[in-house]
Amino acid sequence: MAKAKIQFVCTECGADYTKWQGQCGECKAWNTLKEFREATGVAKRQPDFAAEKRTGFAGTLSQIQKLSDVDLEDQVRIATGMGEFDRVLGGGLVPGSAVLIGGHPGAGKSTLLLQTLCYLAQRLPVLYVSGEESVQQIALRAQRLKLPMDALSILAETSVESITEVAKETAPRILVIDSIQVMHAPDVESAPGSVSQVRESAAWLTRYAKQTGTILILVGHVTKDGSLAGPKVLEHMIDASVMLESSGDSRFRTLRAIKNRFGAVNELGVFAMLDTGLKEVKNPSSIFLNKNQEASPGSVVTVVWEGTRPLLIELQALVDGTSMGHPRRVAVGLDGNRLTMILAILNRHGGIFTGDQDVFLNVVGGVRVTETSADLATLLAVVSSLRDRPMPRDWVVFGELGLNGELRPVPNGQERVLEAAKHGFRKAIIPKANLPRNPPKGMEVIGASRLDEVFQALSD
Ligand code: TYD
Ligand code: MG
Repeated sequence: MAKAKIQFVCTECGADYTKWQGQCGECKAWNTLKEFREATGVAKRQPDFAAEKRTGFAGTLSQIQKLSDVDLEDQVRIATGMGEFDRVLGGGLVPGSAVLIGGHPGAGKSTLLLQTLCYLAQRLPVLYVSGEESVQQIALRAQRLKLPMDALSILAETSVESITEVAKETAPRILVIDSIQVMHAPDVESAPGSVSQVRESAAWLTRYAKQTGTILILVGHVTKDGSLAGPKVLEHMIDASVMLESSGDSRFRTLRAIKNRFGAVNELGVFAMLDTGLKEVKNPSSIFLNKNQEASPGSVVTVVWEGTRPLLIELQALVDGTSMGHPRRVAVGLDGNRLTMILAILNRHGGIFTGDQDVFLNVVGGVRVTETSADLATLLAVVSSLRDRPMPRDWVVFGELGLNGELRPVPNGQERVLEAAKHGFRKAIIPKANLPRNPPKGMEVIGASRLDEVFQALSD
């Protein structure tokens, strides 16, 4: 047998190297290169599933066609029956696509899949392969969650070769692999979970899926420990990657698209993990706000845009005299550099100095904000805490701040205002350019184009 070729692969971004080096040249991460033994030439078996093709997928991929001649009939999306999951996928599962569901162990990936698949299996042939749990454990869980158990086919197996053998016979429309870290591919010598195994197993399975038009769902654990291949290695092999994350230690889980060839990224789905399994949260704005509380200094509500919908979130700031020489700036759920910039804008254009204060900022509920529309709320939360003056509970603000103290418009202004009105907010301070033509009933909407106009509106 030919000698195995040795390569090095970055576990963060999947870049290849022929020699080991301390830092990845692509993503600049340190100590992420892992050895990868590729089975060479003759020894490496290439599966051929083309004979198994059922839809037009395999055939059409290897023939030249005009774009307009491509048959789109088969491209109807398959709804999973869980609205929040479908939303993140961009409207359901696309035939022939490979989807990766990532998350920390215990996030609820297996639960989410079992719940959706038991229902999907009523309509389509589905094969759920578990390499982690025994079939008894899966059945017990399904029974406890009171799921329909009669239609779902399950298999406890970790060899991708055996899995595709079984799949060839039963021809499932959806094939679920839980999880890719325990799978092993033929002719790869390293241990399951290593970069080589994860990559080769995933390549084997995606090849099967593409050639037969099967929907492939891979589960991947995210670990902080670099010794396990992170799902990053897989990202270029798959069509969509979604992450299931727990927000803090609360029972809420957010599902987010990191990459999606068939839909918007950064779409957010929210679930609650109950003793009866994962339940969809249809109105997520309501869970990130604690409505019953008294107005408190440092708390400001804003509307961020998550994928295709608005989300109301609460920012909390604590500003306190610094006891050490160097004031601290800590932002949780927000970019720390953005906070520093906003404090500089506040000093220069609002005349409020925080250079002798520690500033802590937190987004309630463990949400991560990547948008600049939370700038104004950040600034006002800091001012509110510094002055110890609460902002009324039924006020909401949003807008991006420029370095000259101007308040810049943000996308989807009208929808944001409507969402706030729907949740009972009575007053909004927003960028002038975002002013809706007809403000919602019962809500006063104030437009400001500069920071001083915001302060003016607050003092009125
Ligand atoms: P699981 O789906 O096994 O996580 P993953 O596959 O991502 O590793 O979920 C396990 C966690 O979910 C576990 O901590 C227990 C909790 N859980 C509930 O709270 N309620 C339930 O009904 C179920 C099935 C799990
Ligand atoms: Mg699991």
